[in-house]
Amino acid sequence: PHTSDLERRGPGGPETGLDLATLPPDLAERLSAIGGEFQQLTLEYDFAMREVETKLRILQDEFLHLHDYNPIEHLATRMKSLDSLVAKARRRGLPLDLNVWRQEITDIAGTRVTCSFRRDVYRLFELFTDRPDVEVVQVKDYIAHPKTNGYTSLHATVRVPVYLSTGMVRIPVEIQFRTIAMDFWAALDHKIKYKYDGEVPADVAGELKEATQSALDLDRRMERLHDRVHGDGGPTLL
Ligand code: GTP
Ligand code: MG
Repeated sequence: PHTSDLERRGPGGPETGLDLATLPPDLAERLSAIGGEFQQLTLEYDFAMREVETKLRILQDEFLHLHDYNPIEHLATRMKSLDSLVAKARRRGLPLDLNVWRQEITDIAGTRVTCSFRRDVYRLFELFTDRPDVEVVQVKDYIAHPKTNGYTSLHATVRVPVYLSTGMVRIPVEIQFRTIAMDFWAALDHKIKYKYDGEVPADVAGELKEATQSALDLDRRMERLHDRVHGDGGPTLL
């Protein structure tokens, strides 16, 4: 039952989400020229994402088996569409060159791990990044150091090996580890930004920032309650 919330991808691989008709003709032309190359990229990043997902599922299942405890509430994966890749490349002044994107854009494949408790966030992060087949490229701890708007999460950019018929390639995947409370906050923040098209009124932004504290308080309270019921620090991962 714990896998029922998993976002499944279709057998044909992820959609690119690109509508060539909406792009300027010269750009559309260049893009359709790199279409095959992009499909190869998408495939490789999808394989990497599946590798990451499997490694996390194995940690989860081992946990369930050993401790009868589920450290992951929700696991989601997403591939950046060609549309948003083009937008990001433009924003960052990158050329329309997939080899440059491969080097510069590290969140083409993304995974989000949502846990009940803060300590599970860190435990899963540590178990996952300790593996010799996972190369840690960058870690951003927005839990210890929240963003100025109040955003919290633990981000890790890793590279995982993908074995193709032509040999092994290392592909980056961005993983976001967070609690349910952090996820709740981030989802609302996202909706509010969308609603105001990025120009969030100061009072709304202020209240959102205060809500971060409430999320932190709830996290602490739930963890204490959990520990009280279980009579100790709860099941340990190691
Ligand atoms: P991007 O160009 O947005 O990828 O930012 P970045 O490369 O500086 O990385 P960062 O770690 O700041 O953000 C990466 C991802 O974290 C974003 O794509 C979002 O999914 C998430 N994120 C970061 N900041 C916020 C935020 O303020 N609110 C929400 N809802 N999500 C955020
Ligand atoms: Mg990013």
